[in-house]
Amino acid sequence: MKSLLVANWKMNPPTFVEAKKLFEVTKKVADLAKNVSIVVVPPTIFLRELRTSYRGKRLAFGIQNAHAEPKGSFTGETSMVQAKNAGATYVIIGHAERRAMGEINDDTRKKVAAALSFSLLPILCIGETTRTHEGEYLDVVKNQLKIGLADVLVAKLPRVTIAYEPVWAIGADVAMSPHDMHGMAIFIRKTLVELYGEKGMTVKILYGGAIDGTNASDMLMHGDVAGLLVGRASADPEKLTALVRSIKNL
Ligand code: PGA
Repeated sequence: MKSLLVANWKMNPPTFVEAKKLFEVTKKVADLAKNVSIVVVPPTIFLRELRTSYRGKRLAFGIQNAHAEPKGSFTGETSMVQAKNAGATYVIIGHAERRAMGEINDDTRKKVAAALSFSLLPILCIGETTRTHEGEYLDVVKNQLKIGLADVLVAKLPRVTIAYEPVWAIGADVAMSPHDMHGMAIFIRKTLVELYGEKGMTVKILYGGAIDGTNASDMLMHGDVAGLLVGRASADPEKLTALVRSIKNL
């Protein structure tokens, strides 16, 4: 099975000239690794131009966030319809950095439902902020899943991707271990089966947080994940190349 690599550029790079350079590198590495599907998720302001310049078939595009309403007086926001119109196939929902700015589970619920109704593929980000031995982080994750997916009918479930990103690993030096991710993937799947029955098993689960060329293959081989959501290493041409090279023969 092909692995999914979601390249979340976040608010990088500073200029469109640099964005085009990074995009060129992304195109090259995508051709190198036929077993990896890359989703480029640039800053919204670069999305349409990158998309329209692209003639290939190997890359897909996404948006880092979008509003649940299709239009209206929401200064500074972008709707799912506009994202789709600009060339996005995927939308990242509830990224930890958006949650830190005030987004709550109920917002993710509305956005996941809106994405599906406008034919975008939602990538719902979940993950606890901290972990203690009591295990209450499992309740946090379960709640994020339950509320975020509350309006998703079972027939639409295969269109949803879950990105598990423990907040303590995002932007950190060290990722979660593949062994721990494996345990978390089982927990996520168990929760999905509780909610949806056997269909819950079909949902793609990604890992995100401090992934680069040194740990990506281990995570893909032993973490029980269908792919990776990558921040820093996706927005740096050298790190991106090293990452894709490290997983191209899996
Ligand atoms: P990072 O970010 O790869 O820079 O740790 C991951 C993310 O926020 O998705």
